[in-house]
Amino acid sequence: MRDAFRSFPCAVLAAALLAGAAAPTAAQTARVASPNGRNQVAVEVREGRLTYSLTRDGRKLILPSVLGFEFRGAPRLRDGLRITDTTRQAHDETWTQPWGEVARVRDHHNELAVGVEETNAPNRRFTLRVRVFDDGIGFRYEVPDQPALGAYEISDELTEFALADDARAWWIPSNLPRMDRSEMLFSSSPVSRLDSVQTPLTMATTDGRTYLVIHEADLEDYARMNLAGRRMENNTLRVALAPWADGVKVRGHTPFTTPWRTIQLADRVEQLAPSVLGLNLNPPSVLPSTDWIHPMKYVGIWWGMHINVFTWSSGPIHGATTARAKQYIDFAAANGFGGVLVEGWNTGWDGDWIANRNNFSFTRAYPDYDLAEVARYAHAKGVRLIVHNETSGGIQNYERQLDSAYTLYQSLGLDAIKTGYVTDTTAEGHSHWSQFMVRHYRHVIEEAARHHIMVDAHEPIHDTGERRTYPNMMSREGARGQEYNAWGGDGGNPPEHETNLFFTRLLDGPMDFTPGIFDIRIARGPGGPRTPEQSRVRTTLAKQLALYVVIYSPLQMAADLIENYEGQPAFQFIRDVAVDWDTTNVLKGAIGDYVIVARRVRGGQDWFLGAITDEQARTFDVPLGFLTSGRRYVAEIYADGPGADWRDNPQPVTISHRVVTSRSSLHIAMAPGGGQAVRIRPATGADR
Ligand code: NOJ
Repeated sequence: MRDAFRSFPCAVLAAALLAGAAAPTAAQTARVASPNGRNQVAVEVREGRLTYSLTRDGRKLILPSVLGFEFRGAPRLRDGLRITDTTRQAHDETWTQPWGEVARVRDHHNELAVGVEETNAPNRRFTLRVRVFDDGIGFRYEVPDQPALGAYEISDELTEFALADDARAWWIPSNLPRMDRSEMLFSSSPVSRLDSVQTPLTMATTDGRTYLVIHEADLEDYARMNLAGRRMENNTLRVALAPWADGVKVRGHTPFTTPWRTIQLADRVEQLAPSVLGLNLNPPSVLPSTDWIHPMKYVGIWWGMHINVFTWSSGPIHGATTARAKQYIDFAAANGFGGVLVEGWNTGWDGDWIANRNNFSFTRAYPDYDLAEVARYAHAKGVRLIVHNETSGGIQNYERQLDSAYTLYQSLGLDAIKTGYVTDTTAEGHSHWSQFMVRHYRHVIEEAARHHIMVDAHEPIHDTGERRTYPNMMSREGARGQEYNAWGGDGGNPPEHETNLFFTRLLDGPMDFTPGIFDIRIARGPGGPRTPEQSRVRTTLAKQLALYVVIYSPLQMAADLIENYEGQPAFQFIRDVAVDWDTTNVLKGAIGDYVIVARRVRGGQDWFLGAITDEQARTFDVPLGFLTSGRRYVAEIYADGPGADWRDNPQPVTISHRVVTSRSSLHIAMAPGGGQAVRIRPATGADR
């Protein structure tokens, strides 16, 4: 489908607006509906305040909700407003992702732009732009340069989400003493009980008819959005922006445009993923070429540090040695992996590396690690080296070195980095999610793109779809990953964790969760376990395999020590599984309980199916109607073995093969904390 823009004036509204101009307090309303007509947004001025509301099939989802800004040193922009004009556009385009959960994305929406002005001095103006899709809505403020609004400091964005229903929400808090973290376990409660939460915020209406997800898209030069429910009246959530050190939320000079505030909508939970609303609200790619960008699986000198087998710092068990890096590269090459991550290669890790954040060098290696030689060796073996850049929040220290570091990496043919921001606030005291940091994360992506470097960010800003504009922004953490199982401190990740992640955090984009721990009970290293009783993985081995399909990431790690994969038949699944998808179908799911996903590999006919459950054993019969009819396939099934249970018997995996067609069903039996992973490939002559 090609671009199809249509602009059309709205005579009826124009008449209403003229009337409105004569009597500024009269109600002024403009409406816009989704292409299928089900979702409708009304923008109106009520008693001088601009509001928006949302209905689906005529049912109220968001009641009239206030819009506006609070400024430092200038009057609030909220009251005495009138609508001055409206314009409309319709858009229908299908675009192709360079990589993703789906190859093709349809952007089909109707747009309404509402011009708004203060009726009294200083007569400031802005536009509210609304896009309504079949799968949700987005709206943003566009504030032009104007005499009464030049340099500005926003102390609060006043946008509200007045939910019509006390919907059930799945959430993680945002008002933490540690400000850098999205690394929490999910809770579930009615919206009216929420205090301060992060987005994406997934909710289900009490009648079970609609799922809503509030998030943001195209966060560029603004502060990250959280939602505040404290002092909540009538289930109303408010935007809460992350601050600079001085408390200001956003500063700059007009013109400025806010990120889109988005509400994804679905009738069934399975329809929430793959989520493309945010991608459609980001600008298309600005990269002249993307042929240097490669989704891949990788191994790394990494888990060893988290289980105290190696250290990041120098010393007798330093992980990042030239010899060990070559051993990992050999393993990657032998098993068809694209990359090797090496952490702790650069100087700065000795002592308290969080406090000493300005000591990190991003070009100088420890003496036992020869970066150029490892790069040469990796290149010769056809393996990419992923260079680790932990900053500990020393942003200026990192930015000072960005150009020299990336120039060095590029000169050595290194085209992937993993960044890290372990810290409460930046060295300057800005929130981890502030406009200052939003600018930094974007700067890193842009600089990396200039040097043809792919980015995997840990402790990131949340994903707002910028991978569409910069497809070198591959993956990120931004949630509680596998490493919590190594540390175990507060019990690691319970078996339900990934079934929550799938319907919440993973709706905003890929996650570098780092699945694939085979040594479920974790052999202890010389440093001993961090917490003797608790350091272990809380899944079965089959579930570790299924996570490769369930948790989408174009950079997907096989996280265990490579020796733990030796002689393991189940490792074949990790060798085979794809990381780039043409099609994604969520077959069954319940938030926090279970999920079953099938994905077809990009450019191929293989399907992969991942099923995971929480602490309860579950069985399903899954029809394979998504397969091409009339074709025979072989299902290679990795199931929880006899007696498997995450608590005391996590290892057994039964591997079996079966011929299937689109008329077959797969019987999926999952152990407590278990899962099932299946490769479904076209049958060959040999299979008959
Ligand atoms: C936390 C990251 O999530 C982890 O992957 C990394 O190894 C450490 N920080 C050190 O940078």
